[in-house]
Amino acid sequence: EKNGFDHFMLKEIFEQPKALEKTMAGRVDKETNEVDFPELAWTEEQVAKWDKVHIVACGTAYHAGLLGKAAIEELTRTPVDVEVASEFRYRNPIVNENTLVIAVSQSGETADTLAALRQSKELGAKTLSITNVVGSSISREADNVILTLAGPEIAVASTKAYTTQVLSFYLLGIYLAQKKKQITPEQNAQYMAALQEVPEQMEEILFHNDEIKEYGESIKDAKSVFFLGRGIDTAVALEGSLKLKEISYIHSEAYAAGELKHGTLALIEEGTPIISLLTQEKLYDKMLGNIKEVSARGANVLGVTMRGNVKVTQYVDETCFIPETYSLFTPLLSVLPLQLISYYTSLALGNDVDKPRNLAKSVTVE
Ligand code: F6R
Repeated sequence: EKNGFDHFMLKEIFEQPKALEKTMAGRVDKETNEVDFPELAWTEEQVAKWDKVHIVACGTAYHAGLLGKAAIEELTRTPVDVEVASEFRYRNPIVNENTLVIAVSQSGETADTLAALRQSKELGAKTLSITNVVGSSISREADNVILTLAGPEIAVASTKAYTTQVLSFYLLGIYLAQKKKQITPEQNAQYMAALQEVPEQMEEILFHNDEIKEYGESIKDAKSVFFLGRGIDTAVALEGSLKLKEISYIHSEAYAAGELKHGTLALIEEGTPIISLLTQEKLYDKMLGNIKEVSARGANVLGVTMRGNVKVTQYVDETCFIPETYSLFTPLLSVLPLQLISYYTSLALGNDVDKPRNLAKSVTVE
């Protein structure tokens, strides 16, 4: 059932290109190249009514939600809040008939996410769920459902569910922009062409993973690993850090690189591994400035960046290049090396990769 892979996690990492293809198929009109969600069938009037979007989720799904915010705000200029469900539900959130609440959950059974969804319904919001499990509580109770077609995810550490959630947000953002007439047919076609290329670009990363493996093994004795990014790279840094903590049990933190000077720099020592993401061209120089700061304190820096950005090699100790795409879509590619790093680090430590200590696949207690 592991299809020749040693662990479910590795199998699921490698299933991502197919999972993305499946999630995309049926949601793209082959003739117009527009996004179509037959399962939503929202009218223009309905979409125009929402003046606020709230995304609620836990863990990795919350990290996908951060990218959902970036996509929906960028494409539709509608304000979006993202919050972990266990905080949202206890703080009297401002939600009403003009709010769209999106609950994101792989299992569709996470207790806090379900409670946040129920509360939003009571407050009169329209609710949408993005889930991977047909018939799950969250999928049944939301007004509308976008199913991610990742297939069953067995490993506790979520991988293909995350990338299909992120893709769903991109498609949703484009769909909403279409309904609000905020996207030109040309831009639409360009975005869709770029998204359709992603599965193949993922394959490229997956089949050249020997260096990533070596890197993962090289950090196994680290006391602490830091992930740095700016803009949407910060959201990906959070996900990379969670994945590493979860299965390698190494302490790790993710930081918006601009925050380094406000405390974190004190923790950087000789040899501290730093995984830095540089996928946002307009932020390259700022990131390189931050990399200089940590290198000056002896950190060992890996840069994950787009293939064209060779300049970065002068500033970092090691580089991991990924294929180029629109800056909004880079997380679908940049997260892959991070997933693989956590896998190989955990493996090198002899941990139970698929069933890390203290964690359950589906968290049905509050
Ligand atoms: C991390 C992980 C967890 C889940 C979280 C939410 O790899 O798997 O952080 O993402 O427990 O679970 P779902 O998406 O099922 O609501």
